Amino acid sequence: MSKLAGQHILLGISSGIAAYKTPALVRGLVAQGAEVKVVMSENAHRFVTPTSLQAVSGSPVRNTLWDENAEAAMGHIELARWADQIVIAPATANCIARLAQGQADDLLTTLCLATQAPISIAPSMNQQMYKHPATQTNLQTLTSYNYRLIGPDHGDQACGDDGPGRMTEPEKIIETIITQQYSPMTESEKSNQWGGLHIMITTGPTQEAIDPVRYISNHSSGLQGLSIANAALARGAKVSVIAGPRVPESNSSIKRLNVTTALEMHDAVHQHLDGVDVFIGVAAVADYRVEAIKDKKIKRAETQDPNMSLRLVENPDIIASVVASKSAGLVIGFAAETHNSLEYARSKRQRKGLDAIIVNDVSDHDIGFNSQDNEVTFIHPNGETRYPRQSKGQIAEHLLDEIISVFSKQLDKK
Ligand code: PMT
Repeated sequence: MSKLAGQHILLGISSGIAAYKTPALVRGLVAQGAEVKVVMSENAHRFVTPTSLQAVSGSPVRNTLWDENAEAAMGHIELARWADQIVIAPATANCIARLAQGQADDLLTTLCLATQAPISIAPSMNQQMYKHPATQTNLQTLTSYNYRLIGPDHGDQACGDDGPGRMTEPEKIIETIITQQYSPMTESEKSNQWGGLHIMITTGPTQEAIDPVRYISNHSSGLQGLSIANAALARGAKVSVIAGPRVPESNSSIKRLNVTTALEMHDAVHQHLDGVDVFIGVAAVADYRVEAIKDKKIKRAETQDPNMSLRLVENPDIIASVVASKSAGLVIGFAAETHNSLEYARSKRQRKGLDAIIVNDVSDHDIGFNSQDNEVTFIHPNGETRYPRQSKGQIAEHLLDEIISVFSKQLDKK
């Protein structure tokens, strides 16, 4: 089936070595039923010829704002309106910087400012250039403007380096474009979208006792995890929730286990992990607990030390232990960050061996901890999708849709 039938895709090509792969990308998009028009940056023709791109797309290729013939056929504003989506592949560091600055000094950047269509970019550059804080800041700016990132991949680079910055291969770009497009579902399709799958979710805070009256904890309410649990139940999944203290009641069809400490959460997860297809760690687990919990209330009068200190020991990393156990089909984490959020979340995903991670900025008190709304970026093997501020219920719906489409093969849902 042509999964992009009738879609108008405007492919922007900036001048990077990976541009030589774009005829294959155009061919693949056309094979999926898309109508493709190509716009090249000024120097992209050094890596791939407009003639080959015209041959595979079946349309004249444009590279300048000042082409009277082309403007007569379709002006650049009409072209921006024509596109159902814009895909820029490869997107060089320079192209990314110019888009982040909102420049409009060539046809491609002008189109990106003038369009209302979603824009996806597939970065491609040397690994040091990709890691440079300037590039990372520009990418964050673009995701805050709702640009979608596809890749980049890690590996050997044309310059001899090894690392992140390779353009994602054309087939994978096409797969991501298909995944990301909005596919309306009937209520009955939706109600069985997760049928036959067992999802386990940890949610809420953990509490680590200091003495019988005091504890170490955090501001998590458990709402984001419960929203995912409710949405998964409505889509036909079998749902287990391991909840920390003070998390509100859940639907009676959800298997619910209440715990207090990180150690209890760890044990409850592993006791019930068999047969879980998708594990989602939403809980804000305390990384440390008090080494020696006092059995009586600590009295100020008895301590006689104005600088009292508590010795803490590490708690187990629950989600990393789920990955290590290989008992769950997919393991997806959340990342609560206060700065450099995307960068930290990407490395957290790698460090913990997660299939995907969902990052939110918990320094913003209107979202994340203990609020009704959230704003997240979903980082997965096919790219990164930003969901702007909306209710935690709506975020849950988007995440479940995207998990099913990104991981359809692993979940046997094709
Ligand atoms: O509960 P709400 O008020 O609705 O707020 C939602 C939320 C802000 C708590 C949620 O969206 C969120 O960000 N959850 C992750 C909180 C967190 O602890 O993040 P982290 O970056 O410290 O941990 C990363 C991942 O490792 C998480 O999946 C976490 O569950 C897991 N983890 C962390 C430590 C640990 N010892 N064991 C773990 O499993």
